[in-house]
Amino acid sequence: MIPWRALVALVVAVLSLTGASAGVSGLPAAPRRGVVATVNPVATEAGLQALRDGGNAVDAAIACALTLGVVDGHNSGIGGGCFMTLRLADGRLITLDGRETAPAAATRDMFLREGKADPRLSQDGALSVGIPGEFATLAYASTNHGRLPMARLLEAAARVAESGFRLDRHYVGRLRETRSGLALFPGSEAIFLKGLPATPSAGDLLRQPDLAWSYRQMASGGVAWFYRGDFARRTAEWMQSHGGVVEAADFARYEVVSRDPVRGTYRGHQIVSFPPPSSGGVHVVEILNLLERFDLASMGDGSAEFAHVVAEAMKLAFADRARWLGDPDFARVPRGLLSKEYAAGLARRIRLDRASVVAAAGSPPGADRDWFTREMGRHTTHFSTADTEGNWVACTASLNTSFGSKVVVPGTGILLNNHMDDFSAQPGVPNFFGLVGAEANAIEARKRPLSSMSPTLVLRDGRPILSVGAAGGPTIISQTVLAILRTIDFGKPPLEALAAPRLHHQWKPDTLHVERAWGEAVISGLRRRGHSVSVDASIGAAQAVGRDASGRWSAAADPRGEGAAGAW
Ligand code: DON
Repeated sequence: MIPWRALVALVVAVLSLTGASAGVSGLPAAPRRGVVATVNPVATEAGLQALRDGGNAVDAAIACALTLGVVDGHNSGIGGGCFMTLRLADGRLITLDGRETAPAAATRDMFLREGKADPRLSQDGALSVGIPGEFATLAYASTNHGRLPMARLLEAAARVAESGFRLDRHYVGRLRETRSGLALFPGSEAIFLKGLPATPSAGDLLRQPDLAWSYRQMASGGVAWFYRGDFARRTAEWMQSHGGVVEAADFARYEVVSRDPVRGTYRGHQIVSFPPPSSGGVHVVEILNLLERFDLASMGDGSAEFAHVVAEAMKLAFADRARWLGDPDFARVPRGLLSKEYAAGLARRIRLDRASVVAAAGSPPGADRDWFTREMGRHTTHFSTADTEGNWVACTASLNTSFGSKVVVPGTGILLNNHMDDFSAQPGVPNFFGLVGAEANAIEARKRPLSSMSPTLVLRDGRPILSVGAAGGPTIISQTVLAILRTIDFGKPPLEALAAPRLHHQWKPDTLHVERAWGEAVISGLRRRGHSVSVDASIGAAQAVGRDASGRWSAAADPRGEGAAGAW
């Protein structure tokens, strides 16, 4: 059953597809140029405008990213990183790694004080900041795969920053939670506290003239302004005088990496997702490989048995994550994690009648020789776009936690990430998301912290049918898997696939998180099987666009949030 909020969102999505905002009257299945879904209506509109202006899905995604940095800046922006999975009209599949890098002066023990990891250092302020990759990635995507000049998209977003936007409930909540952190940094305080009433509420106008100025510098000076010019210099100076280690040279060295996508199959579909340094693609495919051994369709989507088997698969995959995953340029991440045979062996440990105890990670085949190599981030945001030419984009972007490091270097308007917290500060010590890691994700100079962001495309016979991904730390992997199961095993269109109840297990802590919407019967069925269940109101935020076998398009923003989907 679809909850009422989902129904409202369904109506909104159908209205926009039928032309209320798009002018495709009566043709919900046939947009003129493409579809867009983001967490924010202003950002979705920016993506649609890029399509109206003759842009393709890549331009639309860039417009969304730049505008989200303005209207949803506590989640993502130019001061953070992103992963972009692309399917181009000519059939090429590309993954662009715009993850932050650790500064050259970062060291393994930089967050330890008296032998213990201090989360304040990795989560707030100068030391928490990694070198941002989002702008480099958008610029790369624009130059190589877009059609509109990037300067035009930057100017459009600059205008939104300049004239301001109305806060939504979500933004207000994040401001409340982060107030004391933002107050520590005058550059941030000036914008997010002094620039708003003392007790902000939904509907208040937030203007960001400094951010507009920075966007215009980026429009005229390009990546050089950001990575080798004024922005890099100013940021490094601020960092050095506030206990940080970032240097201008770290910016100059930053590079976007085009990596080989992770590829898997699931019940006759192709899964294309993000490779390490994201753990997302590897574990989305690993979990799907495990679940392919079970007849989920006959268990039924709303059943305790289905929820149990999915949770067991997640647990096994997250144990592997903690042991094996890290930046493939530094750590040996076994490609055997994607093997069907490996999954078949692990799947034998799953019992239908009770929760298993997973003591340690598995041993994927070839772990000693076959690794990912170059050759072959709700405080985050995911957006999806696609166009009628056959370009599809799944992009997840993040500052990490709300408002990232909370640092805005005065005058720039650009919030900086705190993605250094995604490293494992000490073996076995959990990060903000309770994730533990090992050697593979230890801090090293210029290394990229491990991520769970999972921008994923699903194809059938080479034809894309779904672009999906999510925000919510490690739950991103679970949300993405569930959306794919709901699409493939249960034949749900994107909005229903996103609306259906979610669950998440990340091995450690041994807690199965379930949304209340599963209902009492399922929750007690899970407890009876021995799961330690935590009932949550809601998990994560996912967006998706899709095209079904008969060619009908759809676009869905997560009904748990305040996003929007549309078509033009
Ligand atoms: O890269 C990652 O996996 C995290 N930094 C993403 C953070 C996130 O989704 C925050 N949302 N709750």
